[in-house]
Amino acid sequence: MFDYRDYIAKILKENLPDLEENELKNMIEIPPNSEMGDYAFPTFSLAKVLRKNPALIAKEIKEKIKSDKFSKIEVKGPYLNFFLDQKIFAKEVLETLLKEGADYGKSDLGEGKKVVVEFSSPNIAKPFHIGHIRTTIIGNAINNIYRFLGYDVIADNHLGDYGTQFGMLITGMKHWGDEEIIKKDPIPELLKLYVKVNKAAKEKPELADEARMWFTKLENKDEEAVRLWEFFVKESMKEFQRVYELLDIKFDTYLGESFFSDKMEDVVNELEDKNLLIESQGASIVELEEYDLPPAMILKSDGSTLYATRDLATAIYRHKVYDFYKNIYVVGSEQNLYFRQLFAVLDKMGKDWAKDCVHVPFGMVNLKEGRLSTREGKVVFLEDVLNKAKEGIKEVMLSKDRGLTESEIEELSAQIGVGAVIFQELFNDRIKDYTFDWEKTLSFEGETGPYVQYTHARIASLLEKGDFETDLDFDFSLLDLDIERDILNLIYRYPESIFDAHEKYQPYFITRHIVEIAKTFNSYYNSVPINVEDDKLKNARLALCYAAKSTIKSGLKLLGIKAPDRM
Ligand code: ARG
Repeated sequence: MFDYRDYIAKILKENLPDLEENELKNMIEIPPNSEMGDYAFPTFSLAKVLRKNPALIAKEIKEKIKSDKFSKIEVKGPYLNFFLDQKIFAKEVLETLLKEGADYGKSDLGEGKKVVVEFSSPNIAKPFHIGHIRTTIIGNAINNIYRFLGYDVIADNHLGDYGTQFGMLITGMKHWGDEEIIKKDPIPELLKLYVKVNKAAKEKPELADEARMWFTKLENKDEEAVRLWEFFVKESMKEFQRVYELLDIKFDTYLGESFFSDKMEDVVNELEDKNLLIESQGASIVELEEYDLPPAMILKSDGSTLYATRDLATAIYRHKVYDFYKNIYVVGSEQNLYFRQLFAVLDKMGKDWAKDCVHVPFGMVNLKEGRLSTREGKVVFLEDVLNKAKEGIKEVMLSKDRGLTESEIEELSAQIGVGAVIFQELFNDRIKDYTFDWEKTLSFEGETGPYVQYTHARIASLLEKGDFETDLDFDFSLLDLDIERDILNLIYRYPESIFDAHEKYQPYFITRHIVEIAKTFNSYYNSVPINVEDDKLKNARLALCYAAKSTIKSGLKLLGIKAPDRM
C-alpha cells in the first residue's frame, strides 16, 4: 500500500536538504485528533539549526509543496499538519483490503531469517497451571506474529523432563505408586506421589539415596528407569495436549531438557578448554564479575549437571542447527537474572551470537483470591480455567435465543470463552503483573475478547444482509464522513501495530489496535445507516465494513483467537 510517511518524508527532504530522509520520517507524528490532520511535522527542533522561527519554517515549507495527495496542508504553530485527500486515501486502503482480506498486514520482512520461539515449556509430572498461561499465550502470539512477517519460525516447547526430581518420582513409584490409578488422573496423582516421597525422605534419608541411584540409572539408560520416565512423560503429555488443543497451539519441536542430556558433556569440555570453569566449594562455576553478575553454577559438587548446563547445550544446539537470527525465550521475569547469566556465559565462551538470544519476560498472574502457586497447594489448572471460561460463555449463549443448534453453541462457547482468556492475557504490557478477573474477562462489553469477536460477527451479518461481494463496482469517493476517515486511518495503520508488536515482543499493540477498530466501527454503526437504499452508497460503506472486519480478523488470528461469523 502507498506509504504516506515515506511520501511526506520525501517531500520534506526536498525542502530540507540538510536532513536525512529517515530522520525526517521519524519526526513525523500522528496528531492526537483528526481535526489536526492525519500526519503532523513539528518544526521547533529545526528552529535552532535554521535560525528561524518554527512557524515561519512550517509556512515556507507549506508554500513549496505541490501534491495532490492532500486535501489541505495547514500551519498550526510549530506544526505542519497534513490532511489526506479522503477520496484517494479511501480508494488506496479499500482496494488493498478487498484484495487481501484477512491476510492484510502480512509481509516478507523476515524472509530468510530463522527465529526460534521457545514458549510454554511445562514440567513433566507437574501441574500445567494458570502460571503457565502467560508463556503459552504470549509465546504463541509472538510465534504467530513473526510468521506473519515472513520469518522462518521454529516454535519449540522446552519441556522440563529431566533432573534429579525424576529420581525422587521413580522412588515414590517403587514404594507407593500404582500405574493404573495414575493413568486415571495422571498429574494430580503424580504430584501427590512427589509430595509424599519428599516428605518421607525428610525422615528416612535412605530414600534420598535411593532417588539419587534411580536418577543415575536414568542417566545410564537403565531399562526400568527409562520405562517409568517414559510413562510419566506420556501421561503428562496427554494432559498438556488437551490444553494445546483447546488453545489451538502447535509446536514444531518438543526438544525438552532430556534431549540435551547427552549434549552437556561437550559444553562442560568446551568450558574447561577455554579455562572458564572454576572450582568453588566442590562445585564448578563460571565467574561473571565483569558482567556485574553472580557466578553461574555449571556442575554441582557431586558432578551432576543443572538446568543451566542444559540451557547452554540447548542454545549451542539451536545455533548449530538453525543458525538463528533470533533465539527467543518466553519465560517469566522471575528468571531474569538466570537468563542474563546464561547469555553472559555464552558471550564469555566467545559465542558472538549470544547477543541474538532474547529473554522475553512477563509479570505474574494472580487470581482474585490471591497468589497462585504449586507450593501453597492451591493449584489452579489451566485446563480448568479454559473450561470454566467456556462454560461461562455457554450460559450466556443459552440464555439468548439466537437460533443456534446445540453443537454450534458448544463450538462457539469454546471459541469465545478461550478467546476471552487469551484476549485479556494479551491486553496489557506483559511486564505488568495482573489479576485474573472472571467478570471482566467474559464480559461482552468493554475492552474484551467477546466484544471484539461480537463486533466481527455483527459486521459479518451486516455484509450478508447487504449481499456484499468484493468484486462490485465501487465508488469510494462517497466515503466522505469524518468517522469513515477515522476507520480508514485505523485500518491503514494496523501494520504499524504488527511491526511494533514484533519489535518489542508486545502483542498488546495489536490487541489495543483491534479494540480501537471495534469501538470506532460500533459508533459508526450506531450513527450512520449502512444498508441504505442507494446501492452505490451502500456498497461503498459495506466495503469499509468489510475492511474493518478483515483487519479485526487478521489481528485476532495473530493473537490466537478465532473470529466466528455468527455469535
Ligand atoms: N520448565 C521451566 C518452568 O516451567 C521453564 C523453561 C524455560 N526455558 C528454558 N530454556 N530455561 O519453569
